Amino acid sequence: MTRLRLPGLIDPHVHVRDLNQSHKEDWDSATAAALAGGITTILAMPNTQPPITDGAALAQYQAAAQARARCDYGLYFGAGPGNVESAARFAPQVAGMKMYLDSTFGDLKMDALSLLVEHCARWPKESPLLAHAEGHHVASAILAAHLAGRSIHICHVSRKDEIELIARARDKGYAVTCEVCPHHMFMTLDDCGLAPGYLEVRPRLATPADVAALWAHLADIDCFATDHAPHTRAEKESEKPPPGFPGLETALALWLTAAHQGRLTLEDLLARMHTNPRRIFNLPEQPDTWIEVDADCEWQPDASRMYSRAGWTPFVGWRLRGRVIAVTLRGQLAYDGERVLAQPGTGRDVMNSSYSV
Ligand code: DOR
Ligand code: ZN
Ligand code: ZN
Repeated sequence: MTRLRLPGLIDPHVHVRDLNQSHKEDWDSATAAALAGGITTILAMPNTQPPITDGAALAQYQAAAQARARCDYGLYFGAGPGNVESAARFAPQVAGMKMYLDSTFGDLKMDALSLLVEHCARWPKESPLLAHAEGHHVASAILAAHLAGRSIHICHVSRKDEIELIARARDKGYAVTCEVCPHHMFMTLDDCGLAPGYLEVRPRLATPADVAALWAHLADIDCFATDHAPHTRAEKESEKPPPGFPGLETALALWLTAAHQGRLTLEDLLARMHTNPRRIFNLPEQPDTWIEVDADCEWQPDASRMYSRAGWTPFVGWRLRGRVIAVTLRGQLAYDGERVLAQPGTGRDVMNSSYSV
């Protein structure tokens, strides 16, 4: 067995749900899934029910996370039409602000160009600003941020034209960072083998040419996120299937399998799952935190053995190589390869000033 010791991984893009959508996932199940996947910090998206677009909702989710989280976490604030003037005041409490420029799950889509421009201008420059932006909206987000003199992080890049535009902006010195997700790097719409409903995800699965372009631009990709977006089997099989894939418990193994195949190096992986997200999202160091991986272990994802409440995985039956066998979080064994040992309420908010005390 080749036993690797790696730093605790960071996933900057997770949909935790909770409160009115706890049947899909909550802070307990999401953070258990994260630990089982070798991830010790998650940053949680605001397209919740209720959405995190005001102080009252933020306080509710902070309380839910404090009570239930088993790993460390940060919350994102959601940009909307009603909080242009108030949003900035919440920056010290959150990991960044998310802007939705395209239709996806939830009601946070911003249509007006003026909203994009105003939010870019007002959100504090030292706090990350993220965009769900597809196609033309990638250009809109980059330009609006650049004109406001601030950085922008483009979530889940999935297409050739998008990554090429991002690469050109970076060449020109624009402060643009980006992430990709396993499903856009290892699957295409035509070969995914997923039933209708299950294959719904935003951005959609793309073409082989898109996937090839993302791999060719690995140097321009800062982070590997999961966009863990749990919906139940019944919801995926319904008349109006919501978009999204669970991914916390398969991501590292998918990337390790690609590393074994020579598609990237372990250093490439660690830069994108630890060092870069830590820098981009200003995250504190987690003292005495590491994960151990059996790099030779071959296994097949099986949702019945997972912690996520989604109850399915788009990677079922894939032959993966590399498995998490232990996670130590702040000196405590948090996952032993079979069971999550960290208890609900032991995770810490990375934005809390007493984080490392
Ligand atoms: O497929 C998706 N699901 N894309 C998103 O942008 C949102 C996510 C969700 O919250 O389910
Ligand atoms: Zn998104
Ligand atoms: Zn998302």
